[in-house]
Amino acid sequence: MQSSLTLRPIGFISTHKQVKFQALHQPAEDEPERNVLELLPEPGYQQALQDLDGFSRVWLLWWFHRNASWRPLVLPPRGPAQRRGVFATRSPHRPNPLGLTPVQLLGIEGRRLLLGPCDLVDGTPVFDIKPYIPAFDAFPDAGGGWTEEVEAALAGPPQFAVKFAPLAQSQAEWLLATWEVDFRPRLIELLAIDPTPHRTRRIRRRGDALFTIGCGAWKAVFSVAGKVVTVLALEPGYPLRFLNNPDYEDLPDREAQLACWARWPEQLR
Ligand SMILES: C[S@@+](CC[C@H](N)C(=O)[O-])C[C@H]1O[C@@H](n2cnc3c(N)ncnc32)[C@H](O)[C@@H]1O
Repeated sequence: MQSSLTLRPIGFISTHKQVKFQALHQPAEDEPERNVLELLPEPGYQQALQDLDGFSRVWLLWWFHRNASWRPLVLPPRGPAQRRGVFATRSPHRPNPLGLTPVQLLGIEGRRLLLGPCDLVDGTPVFDIKPYIPAFDAFPDAGGGWTEEVEAALAGPPQFAVKFAPLAQSQAEWLLATWEVDFRPRLIELLAIDPTPHRTRRIRRRGDALFTIGCGAWKAVFSVAGKVVTVLALEPGYPLRFLNNPDYEDLPDREAQLACWARWPEQLR
């Protein structure tokens, strides 16, 4: 029996999502997102796209290439802090980290597929494309297991109001105006659902009264009083010793983080 096999990517996707924080757990279907899957210039790949243009959706099979390890039990990001068997989840931390996403097919230009919203980060290798066939692939009455209870609990209005203190507000405006960095919408969405410490949601305690949440290359510091979450400050996610070290080549938003450290040295840890 074969103990391993070799797969080769057929292409790589460009999604503008540099960090995992920007990619939702499943595609946000109502976002006006445009993503491009460019197939490699291998003989036959362009021809293999023939007849695909009549399908409005395709399945992408891809690799969670930013993951290094797997765990038999994982903590899903949604719902209570309860571990689940990884095969009962869509977690990236799998023995064979294969992702599976049905995406809108908006057009085909040569070897490029123009795609709608997706949950892949930029540069993710894609192994295969298959047409999504509603008659075979959709089972709306199928049972949703443990996710049904979680989704039902989350279906109501958000539990927490999220406010920005003046410092966090001016930092958010500066990040957007100067660096086109804006993680506020996702930050607010996550904190409004549940700001309690949670490993997968990257929420941690800082001292007695404060919490932090990881937002990709950034962090937000917040406090909670009753049902009100106040975001007090935004911080670079990386310390200066990393940002100034040329050995760490691919740190996201590096220049913006350095500028933030320079601009708000007092408020930041
Ligand atoms: C919950 S998984 C679901 C993926 C796919 N829809 C599935 O069901 O297999 C989606 C998350 O994977 C993460 N992700 C996206 N691209 C990744 C990559 N190339 N490597 C590791 N994690 C990735 C993002 O954090 C995203 O929120």
